[in-house]
Amino acid sequence: MQVMKQNRQPSEHSETEAAKSICPKCKDTGWEFYIKDGYEYSRECSNGCRIKKIKSNKLQFADIPREFESLSVESFKTDCYSKVETREKAEMVKAICRNYINQFNQIKETGKGLYLYSKEKGSGKTRMAVSMANDIINNYMVSAKITTAIRILDEIKNTWNSNRDAEKPLLSEMQLVNDITQVPVLIIDDIGVEKSSPWVDEKFYSILDNRLISKKITIFTSNVRIEDLKLDERIRSRIGKMALPVQFPNESIRDSLARKENNDFLMQLIS
Ligand SMILES: Nc1ncnc2c1ncn2[C@@H]1O[C@H](COP(=O)(O)OP(=O)(O)OP(=O)(O)O)[C@@H](O)[C@H]1O
Ligand SMILES: [Mg+2]
Ligand SMILES: [Zn+2]
Repeated sequence: MQVMKQNRQPSEHSETEAAKSICPKCKDTGWEFYIKDGYEYSRECSNGCRIKKIKSNKLQFADIPREFESLSVESFKTDCYSKVETREKAEMVKAICRNYINQFNQIKETGKGLYLYSKEKGSGKTRMAVSMANDIINNYMVSAKITTAIRILDEIKNTWNSNRDAEKPLLSEMQLVNDITQVPVLIIDDIGVEKSSPWVDEKFYSILDNRLISKKITIFTSNVRIEDLKLDERIRSRIGKMALPVQFPNESIRDSLARKENNDFLMQLIS
C-alpha cells in the first residue's frame, strides 16, 4: 500500500487552531481516497488521522481529569519531594510504574494491577495512576477507564432513577456493571473512602470478582493499606490477589504546591 509523504511546514497556527482545523486529506474520517488506473481506492490517511482518532476516542472514553490530561509516567517529577527518604521512595515508585508500562504486553496476560497507597494525602497517587492510563492508551491503544469507588456506586444508583434525561441512552444496572467489569484497564481512584454496607460490598464483590476471573487489570489508589480497607474480607483478599501494593512517599506535594502558590500570590499582592 503506497502512502504519500507530505513535507509539512511548521504550523503558524496556535495549537488550539491546529486542533480545530479539519484534515485536508481525509476530512477527519481517517481514510483518504485516491485514483489509480481510473479506479478509486481508499487508504489510511497519511497524516496519521486514523490512529489519532482511535487514540482520541479512547482518551475521551477514559474520563481523564482535565488537570491530568496528557501527563505521562516519565513526566512524574521526583525532585519536588523535599526529603531524601521521600525522594528516594518517589524514584522507586516511578521506576516500578515505568517498568509496568514497558512490560505491559506481558503483564496484561496475567491481569496483575497495582495498588498505589499512602497515608498522606496529596502524595501523587492519582497523578501517577492517571499517567499510567494515558501511557497505556497512547503506547498500546488499549482502552482504560478512570473512576472512583464513589462514582461507581453513584452511577449504579442513577440507573434506578426513573427521572432521567431523555437525550441520554438508558443504561440498566446490569449493563453498567458489565461495562465496568469488561473494560481492559480500570483505574479505581480513592478506594476506601466509601461508606461500607452489605449493598456496597455486594456491588464491589461482583465487579472485582469478575475482573479477577477474567484477568482484567485494575489499578487502585487509596489512603489505606489493603488490609485496613473497611470492606468485606472476600473483597480485600481479591484486591490483594489482583494488585501489587506500592507505597507512595508520605509527603504531600499538594500542600507544598499550595504553599508555593500562596507565597507567589502574596509576593504579587505586596510588590
Ligand atoms: N510527582 C509529582 N510531580 C508533579 N506534581 C505532582 C506530583 N505528585 C503530585 N503532584 C501534584 O500534587 C497534587 C496532588 O496530587 P494527587 O492528586 O495525585 O495526590 P493523591 O496522592 O492522589 O492525593 P489524595 O490522597 O488526596 O487522593 C496534584 O495537583 C498533582 O498534580
Ligand atoms: Mg487521589
Ligand atoms: Zn487525515
